[in-house]
Amino acid sequence: MCGIVGYIGKQPALPILLQGLRRLEYRGYDSAGVAILESRKQNLEYSSPVLERVRSVGRIDALDERVRQGGKLTGGTLGIAHTRWATHGWITEENAHPHTDCTGDLMLVHNGIIENYREIRARLGERHALQSKTDSEILAHLIETHYKGDLRAAVSSALQHACGTYGLAVMHRAHPDEIVAARLGSPLVIGVGDGEHFIASDATPMLPYTKRVIFLNDGEIATVFRDRLPVVNLKSAIVDKHIEELDWNDEQAQKQGYPHFMLKEIFDQPTVLKDAIRGRFNMEEGAAHLGGLNMSEDEMRAVKRVSLIACGTASYAAMVGKYAFERLAGIPAEIDVGSEFRYRDPIVDQHTLVFAVSQSGETADTLAALREAKRKGAYVRGIVNVIGSTIARESDGGTYIHAGPEIAVASTKAYTNMVAVLLLYALQFGRLRRVTVATGQRLLQAITKAPGQIETILSRGGDIERIAQKYKGIEHALYLGRGINFPVALEGSLKLKEISYIHSEAYPGGEMKHGPIALLSKNFPVVAIATQDQMYSKMCSNIEEIRSRRAPVIIVATEGDVWARELSEDVIYVPPTMELTAPLINTIPLQLLAYYMAALLGRDVDRPRNLAKSVTVE
Ligand code: G6P
Repeated sequence: MCGIVGYIGKQPALPILLQGLRRLEYRGYDSAGVAILESRKQNLEYSSPVLERVRSVGRIDALDERVRQGGKLTGGTLGIAHTRWATHGWITEENAHPHTDCTGDLMLVHNGIIENYREIRARLGERHALQSKTDSEILAHLIETHYKGDLRAAVSSALQHACGTYGLAVMHRAHPDEIVAARLGSPLVIGVGDGEHFIASDATPMLPYTKRVIFLNDGEIATVFRDRLPVVNLKSAIVDKHIEELDWNDEQAQKQGYPHFMLKEIFDQPTVLKDAIRGRFNMEEGAAHLGGLNMSEDEMRAVKRVSLIACGTASYAAMVGKYAFERLAGIPAEIDVGSEFRYRDPIVDQHTLVFAVSQSGETADTLAALREAKRKGAYVRGIVNVIGSTIARESDGGTYIHAGPEIAVASTKAYTNMVAVLLLYALQFGRLRRVTVATGQRLLQAITKAPGQIETILSRGGDIERIAQKYKGIEHALYLGRGINFPVALEGSLKLKEISYIHSEAYPGGEMKHGPIALLSKNFPVVAIATQDQMYSKMCSNIEEIRSRRAPVIIVATEGDVWARELSEDVIYVPPTMELTAPLINTIPLQLLAYYMAALLGRDVDRPRNLAKSVTVE
């Protein structure tokens, strides 16, 4: 959701900025723009710097084309760029960033929402001719009114009047050696190179150049020069920042020959699942030990409830966590989507352990819910993928899931790793309560076997593609699962609708008779997850009911289940596993099914319409 890239250094900024925008494409956007400042040399003298801007609706390719046609922006070594995901104002070139002030000397890119923009607009009065309908442009004019020759001071005083959230980067024609970057509620990372700095909404644009980064915190403003970057807070006091080393490599953020990032990320799962669990359990003791939990055994024993907060796919991983905590640790667990938790006055206290589960670590609703839980005195721990992200830093502990960069908007490998980490957490609590060594060992064996079993499923991708080919013309689908396979059904259904735009719903098998059964017909296929577990015979009854209504069924069944083959010609076999680890296995064919349906329909698999990877607004 909206992406910022900035560069100041010795190299031409344009290719770095455009490549950076491409690397942020996955966040979701509908228009893009770039501004570059060039100090041209004439007879060994620098003439006054030239500031140029190009914006375009649609993909980065359209922007690139426009830049090329105009032959502009080629020489400058300082610039800012942006991908916009419309919130205020239509998707038009005027509303695309960078925005400028009345003088045209200042350029600004902004992520987030300025909530009091109407009041600021009124205060600015008629003197300021606005070109767009955005809240962001107001900021450019507000900075203009505070500008008296010191860009950082102007940004700083302007921001005192802004309510809402921002990650922003500002440049000015009179300041050819600096970009001012500020953050409140919308992430900004600064990459530190040799005589150059990179600014971006997340670290992916800078991975080809540097792994040394500084994360700005809320309320911090950095003046980014080529060789230094002093950071101050909103009261202008100097803040000491530490350079952190990223452990992601650039190769992980590339497609590596796959047609889409999503497919590559599905195939990453056997490897990254091992990264999620490595060093975090002891097979002999049948126990897990996630150091980031930061709780003594007494504190762990005193936990009376677990609350899992998340959004989207992460919430379905969290739902698996709920089953695991209740089953293994006997602790009542509930799951809530961030947007509900934050406003519903949840009952949490000092005996509640809250997990904020998030791939990006920046989802606005999850973050707000986390802050609410902290305010009420709960233990708050993060289960997060992006290192140094806001949720990771604001939690009082937690665990990185080590899925590596996930670029496709639809989450796959992050889900699997979230599930694995939640299972380990549930085991860690369970071993202090009712889980025996033998049960712990069985669970750990099932988890450690999962990467190989996922590989087996992936090797049968061709069969799933054939099923997708057969069903790609459908308009609706129903996903059914029971027990721990209900979140699997929810996740499978979400994947399908997100990327193929086929309408799909998921229900617990037992609820089919209370509504969805009315929809069933020969054009309304059902995906039934009916692997061998305690709910198997109940799922079989559901499948019989579906078949008597002549609706086609795609069954996800355990290898060797002959009955499934008798009932439907579309059976996806998966290797046997324990009930608690079933989501690690059973979700994989559903990811592939959604992927192949969308790819065969020619959808933009990695960047589905209207969706964003990192939802940093409410
Ligand atoms: C968006 C993405 C989903 C993701 C959800 C939560 O809706 O499109 O793929 O599951 O946000 O994101 P998070 O980064 O918090 O896991």
